Amino acid sequence: MLTALAISGYRSLVDVVLPLHPLTVITGANGTGKSNLYRALRLLAEAGHGRAVAAIAREGGLDSVLWAGPETPQGLGAQGTKRTRPVAVRLGFASDELGYVLDLGLPQADPRSPFTRDPEIKREQVFTGPFARPGTLILDRQRTGVRVRGDQGWVSLNQPMGPGQSALLDLTDGTALPESVALQHRIASWRFYDHFRTDAGSPARAPQIGTRTRWLSDDGSDLAAVWATTQDAGRGASLDQAVEQAFPGSRVQIAVNEGVFRLQLRQPGLLRPLDAAELSDGTLRFLLLCAALLPADPPPLLVVNEPESSLHESLIAPLGALLTAASAQTQVIVVTHSAVLRRVLAQAGAETVELESAGYGTRVRDQLPLERPSWHWPSR
Ligand SMILES: Nc1ncnc2c1ncn2[C@@H]1O[C@H](COP(=O)(O)OP(=O)(O)O)[C@@H](O)[C@H]1O
Ligand SMILES: [Mg+2]
Repeated sequence: MLTALAISGYRSLVDVVLPLHPLTVITGANGTGKSNLYRALRLLAEAGHGRAVAAIAREGGLDSVLWAGPETPQGLGAQGTKRTRPVAVRLGFASDELGYVLDLGLPQADPRSPFTRDPEIKREQVFTGPFARPGTLILDRQRTGVRVRGDQGWVSLNQPMGPGQSALLDLTDGTALPESVALQHRIASWRFYDHFRTDAGSPARAPQIGTRTRWLSDDGSDLAAVWATTQDAGRGASLDQAVEQAFPGSRVQIAVNEGVFRLQLRQPGLLRPLDAAELSDGTLRFLLLCAALLPADPPPLLVVNEPESSLHESLIAPLGALLTAASAQTQVIVVTHSAVLRRVLAQAGAETVELESAGYGTRVRDQLPLERPSWHWPSR
């Protein structure tokens, strides 16, 4: 389980460290940085696929994602002040097992290089315990050099890292630590869900070739296959229960015809089940969330952004129950704007982190110094 998330220099998140729990609700008024936090976490997950540099380039490069305000709160109001510190976007987390720190900065590339939007990985660390410090590091990458700690102490690896290469992914066989390989696998399995399409052309409405599918894809196109996979693994009861809570008397069934799967909903008062193509936007969205949140073999972390959007009020309490059920199987982070959902989840034992915009970027509201997890960013 992740125990802390730390972000520095990413958009409005100038300097945020927050605790994470089995079920964490991230909330706050409009413009306080909830989506930025979701994106920062997603960026960290991209690092597990070796795609963090490309993801920043797609967001417009470091210039776009870097905190656009002054370096210190004292500099507020002074537009155009020159930077004195190195440009850095830093992301990290701690967990019960291992933690990871990623520091991205401006490339040292040839000015004629065409890859002007690519940031450079300046530092990467893998550590045990609640935060990185010299005694807890097991891998330390500084620019091109990587050191790993073995039984005999630190060993410098004879494999220079390229500016976009990651010590989690790009070490050759035999030099990578089994711990960091396991960490990379874990990060790469985090799942993110954000605004499923439910319009008439949504891929979730179309029949699909059914193959065993562990986790719902981002666009929900494999909804029927994931539902059938979960049922096949003997875990259909929790799906049925979530559907019953949201739509009393209704039941999902998967119709199979020559390997093509269709999701259908039997509802009281109707003589035939309705096909996914015929369901209302809200109903389809709720079923997508069920499939995303209750897979038979849950991922290590599920992050959902504003799951309440376009759901009818009457579905907020069932959504809360669904998220709570998911958190009994895996760690869940819910980013939400809805006061009702936040209340329902708090009653079910979720911890709430409220963000606020305090003039100088995003802050955690009412965070006392002792409530802020200890964190240490490495210098370059
Ligand atoms: N590079 C940046 N530097 C500083 N602030 C930024 C940057 N990019 C976006 N922001 C600001 O971050 C704020 C929070 O955005 P967002 O996370 O979308 O809010 P929420 O999801 O809570 O409504 C916005 O007001 C936006 O202006
Ligand atoms: Mg938002």
